Amino acid sequence: MAESFIVPIETDKNLKYKLIYEQAEALLLAETNRISNMANLCAMLKYGMGFFWVGFYLVDENELILGPFQGTVACTRIAKGRGVCGTAWAEEQTILVENVDHFPGHISCSSLSKSEIVVPVFDYENKFIGVLDVDSDKLNNFDEIDQHWLELMVHLL
Ligand code: SME
Repeated sequence: MAESFIVPIETDKNLKYKLIYEQAEALLLAETNRISNMANLCAMLKYGMGFFWVGFYLVDENELILGPFQGTVACTRIAKGRGVCGTAWAEEQTILVENVDHFPGHISCSSLSKSEIVVPVFDYENKFIGVLDVDSDKLNNFDEIDQHWLELMVHLL
């Protein structure tokens, strides 16, 4: 089946996310493989929202390993409690970082990354399985609107 994705041209962030979410819902619910769905979700968010970097880190025993992503090369393993991703794992909640230089222990995979949001991902039994990590090359680029929609998106996985 040929997959298709219409990149929203709206400037309103809420509407942009809504149009992406509706397409993600149709695409991801038609596929049972979680890794494939993560890969397509990264592509939709990268090209739909124009994020600098978007990807998943998945639990592998006692650390997070790099999963499907879109963007520059990235570190492959993150210990629980380290960096923004490891902290989101430890706290099992979304972390919004206005300025990565002000986050103690931030792990820099690119010097161009200035702000970040990390959303925990849970399976159907509410077991933590990883995080969705989104980096911006602009300071303070994420807010509660991003948190709302990205938390909804990861529930599709
Ligand atoms: N900044 C993340 C590491 C992953 S790179 O941004 C892709 C962190 O501090 O956990």
